[in-house]
Amino acid sequence: MKLLPLTTCVRLARRYREFRRGERGPVFVSWFLTRECPIRCAGCVFFSRHPAPPEDLPLADKLRVLADLERIGVPFLFIAGGEPCVAPDLPEVLGEARRRGLYTILVTSGLVMSPELARVIDRTARGVIFSIDGIEPEHDRIRGQGNYQRAMEGMRIFLAGRRNARVYVSCVIGRRNHVDLTRFALDMRAMGVDRVNFQSNCIPQLKPDQGAVPSLMAELDHLSTEWSDLFVTDRKYLDKLRTYFTRPTNLEFCGVPTLGHLALLPDGTVSACCEFHLPIGNAAQEGLPAVVARARTLGFEEVKRCKGCCRKDYDLVERFFETPVQRWSLGDLRTIQSL
Ligand SMILES: C[S@@+](CC[C@H](N)C(=O)[O-])C[C@H]1O[C@@H](n2cnc3c(N)ncnc32)[C@H](O)[C@@H]1O
Ligand code: SF4
Ligand code: SF4
Repeated sequence: MKLLPLTTCVRLARRYREFRRGERGPVFVSWFLTRECPIRCAGCVFFSRHPAPPEDLPLADKLRVLADLERIGVPFLFIAGGEPCVAPDLPEVLGEARRRGLYTILVTSGLVMSPELARVIDRTARGVIFSIDGIEPEHDRIRGQGNYQRAMEGMRIFLAGRRNARVYVSCVIGRRNHVDLTRFALDMRAMGVDRVNFQSNCIPQLKPDQGAVPSLMAELDHLSTEWSDLFVTDRKYLDKLRTYFTRPTNLEFCGVPTLGHLALLPDGTVSACCEFHLPIGNAAQEGLPAVVARARTLGFEEVKRCKGCCRKDYDLVERFFETPVQRWSLGDLRTIQSL
């Protein structure tokens, strides 16, 4: 595995020290950079929560947000959307994120990849996550007919020219796509991706049926044991996934009170929860430092009423804040790259 860059390690160490002193702040920021997307996947969390998403920021504001991310020492940035690859200013945003020392991972459907864009991404981002929701019929049932093959083509274009960036596949398991995960993982290995990650659909109504959970979990257990080089989901997370799939709520840990993972909407709205609950201000209007400073005074009592979630990013936030940093191993860091 590649080592994390020095800037990222320094920022992580600083955040950890601050947290031990009782000061909370983001380790991860997920930026839903654009509201544009050429497709509408069934159950997409972004469009489910925002049927009419807010407008994108102009580039000048985006660059200010990136300067703020550096100012407050954010180590990791995920760029998603909408479909970030359709944002015309994505190259400028990625270039500036790199200059600002952010460890950036781009999350994409793979549908609009071109050799030119792939070169820019490879030079600037540390990793790319292609969102593939299972074998072809499963993926297409969720993402639209023909989109599996289009995504594979996007991935091929990226892999053909990549020199630096890690390439991950993330499969969101839900009610409609949990068969043949082993075949899926084999197909992805044949494509040449570095790692495959499974996580749960965060919309409670879209969890797999109870009857399907034992065989689904057995398959994931098997994959994590037999294919640990390819498969990122470790045993601890699998246990969480099992609990999440089989119980109505899962609130053992909620990352919100730590401010460990913030979401930024296309218009700069900041949410303390990556499922977009709990807006705490606007990064373009007030500046991120002011938003975070104010959020540090909030108690977030609302999270007690939340039905819970089972996101891998929060799993990492939990490990980062709740376990001594010496036990936050390189294995954990590698998981970051596959959320
Ligand atoms: C909203 S998408 C935006 C980026 C890009 N359009 C894509 O599809 O990868 C960001 C990530 O959220 C995941 N996602 C979408 N709906 C979800 C849901 N209901 N629960 C969990 N993850 C979801 C996608 O699979 C993707 O990996
Ligand atoms: S491609 Fe991404 S943003 Fe677009 S609908 Fe699908 S999951 Fe949502
Ligand atoms: S438990 Fe609820 S409030 Fe907390 S991070 Fe998950 S969805 Fe957000």
